[in-house]
Amino acid sequence: MAQIYLPTDHVADRSRLPSFEQYQDMHKMSLDEPEAFWSEIINEFHWQTHPTRGNFMSYNFDINKGNIFVKFMEGAMTNVCFNVLDKNVRNGHGDKIAFYWEGNHPEDYSRITYAKLMELVCQFSNGLRDRNIGKGDRVAIYMPMILETVVCMLACARIGAIHSVVFAGFSSDSLAERMSDCKAKVLVTADGAWRGTKLLNLKDTCDDAMEKAKTKYNHTVGMCIVVPHLERVTACGKLPHDLRDLYKWNDDIDVWWHDMVEGQSTICPPEWMAAEDPLFMLYTSGSTGKPKGVLHTTAGYMLYAAATFRYVFDHRDKDIYWCTADVGWITGHTYVVYAPLANAATSVMFEGTPFFPDNDRYWSCVEKYKVTQFYTAPTAIRALMKFGEHNVKRHNMTSLRVLASVGEPINSEAWLWYYKLVGSNRCSIADTFWQTETGGHVITSIPAATPMKPGAAGYPFFGVDPIILDNDGKEIKGEGEGFLTFARPWPGIMRTLFGDHDRYQEVYFRRFPGYYCTGDGARRDEDGMIWITGRIDDMLNVSGHLMSTSEVEGVLTEDLRVAEAAVVAKPHPLKGESLYCFVTLGEGATFNDELVDSLKKRVRHRIGAFAAPDAIQYAPGLPKTRSGKIMRRILRRIALGENDMGDISTLTDPSVIAQLLKYRAT
Ligand code: WT7
Repeated sequence: MAQIYLPTDHVADRSRLPSFEQYQDMHKMSLDEPEAFWSEIINEFHWQTHPTRGNFMSYNFDINKGNIFVKFMEGAMTNVCFNVLDKNVRNGHGDKIAFYWEGNHPEDYSRITYAKLMELVCQFSNGLRDRNIGKGDRVAIYMPMILETVVCMLACARIGAIHSVVFAGFSSDSLAERMSDCKAKVLVTADGAWRGTKLLNLKDTCDDAMEKAKTKYNHTVGMCIVVPHLERVTACGKLPHDLRDLYKWNDDIDVWWHDMVEGQSTICPPEWMAAEDPLFMLYTSGSTGKPKGVLHTTAGYMLYAAATFRYVFDHRDKDIYWCTADVGWITGHTYVVYAPLANAATSVMFEGTPFFPDNDRYWSCVEKYKVTQFYTAPTAIRALMKFGEHNVKRHNMTSLRVLASVGEPINSEAWLWYYKLVGSNRCSIADTFWQTETGGHVITSIPAATPMKPGAAGYPFFGVDPIILDNDGKEIKGEGEGFLTFARPWPGIMRTLFGDHDRYQEVYFRRFPGYYCTGDGARRDEDGMIWITGRIDDMLNVSGHLMSTSEVEGVLTEDLRVAEAAVVAKPHPLKGESLYCFVTLGEGATFNDELVDSLKKRVRHRIGAFAAPDAIQYAPGLPKTRSGKIMRRILRRIALGENDMGDISTLTDPSVIAQLLKYRAT
């Protein structure tokens, strides 16, 4: 049985939610009387048209009863940008630091106040409006972790444009596909950025992507706005003498960021948005086919982001909060941009990597900024563990109060290292389980209120009612393991997949009518805590990046030498999971190092470096059932180095197993 850790006085002192009973009462109220529960937070925000009572939430989760829909506060009008900037400035936080920006190079840093951020956002909003970008238009963003990225997202929110951020580690193919799917009118990027000693040539990738969007998808992106970021940066490597040698410039579509904002007014009236108008979309991998454009809307997302931040990080006025996630993922959207700003918080925004210039960069920044809440991913913790304790111990980290984790289950060894070494046995750990689709945390511990166990995600957040179902869709009450689902919405849940409501209904609501299906397995233990047991679909989680096996398989079979490919997850000590690929070959093709190399390169090139396979093995055939389904369970065992394949009675040709074992990759 896992050991229980209780919140320490260090955390409980002055917490807004100091006891488990209080958490339980509030959770019960959030389910029994949602409108009353959320009214406190609703009243803090500005509403151009006030929400009407009795109209807080309406939904249908039962696909047999008609279309799936979720609506919160219908009829209310507001603007998220106004609430996270203007409202704070009006409430006297204008001079408060919104972000301490820490560049890739330790000598490159800056800070920005709420008042200044608001001015920059207004100027850029006016620039966008001048170029005819407005409500409902899609704006693609392919940016490094710089303040302009936040400015750009908030400017979109201000004028009602839908931002679609694509993580700047994605390839030009992936960017082209995403821009074309959402029909982006404009793309915002930077000339380039350093990550550690590696130069990302962003503008060049964008040029490629715009070209591919045109030729492959017949979609023209009309304008590319470019932040000149490289010129301000202390070089970490060698740059060409003239930065413009790094990329081409096309006066017809390329515009410098400063030319967009120059001469623009620092005042910009917001576009008042209906509660259910879209705020942003963000692509996430699907287990089949193309990426899914998860759509979040205005009022519910704002409430939920604000509330989760406040309680899960136990946020207080003078705190310095730091989330290391990239803005290209949902964690960056909710917990770098919207949630901290909605709470008038001061955050650290970090451009670089944990390993540059040294492996103590995170801890030196915690010390430098006196960080009180630190939010990162298990893969980063595991990577840092191997550099030893002295990297942590030589920094003063007594400012820390709450540590948090996200992206994948955190193994108990990493949890204990985080708790003991980073948190000196006195900080709470919030292992936050959520998804791009959920908008914010759904299962987590709450610092001063709930007990913790290494590896358990914990308890439902307010408004969230987790239901564990068995294979037949029967609810498992109390202890037990099964599919993690939710029988009712909370304000931050996604509303649809952009342009494809059918797929939304099929993917999330078909399997168990009446329930939103997360795609994860879960176990409830004897203390009512929820443990996430991993994906139950054909998805992989490499260093916290979710991707589908079929997406990688599709790329492998683009090489004409490959007849068929099957990809499985293999546990990896640092990345959590890694990709292990089986390939069968076409007539006349030979399996050699060159093929392996070129397949690995192809995946990096087509999807992104984070998707690069660790192992590719030759397969004379794949283990299939009589209905032709590949038995991935067997492939997973082979990847693991096991020899016992369990029940193989449904295999068409059991002899493939001996063959596969023979060619196992090392
Ligand atoms: C999937 C969602 C939400 C932020 C980042 C990932 C896995 C996420 C945890 C956690 C166990 C986790 C799940 C989930 N996951 N956080 N704390 N414990 N698993 O967003 O790319 O939409 O991935 O990540 O499998 O379904 P995402």
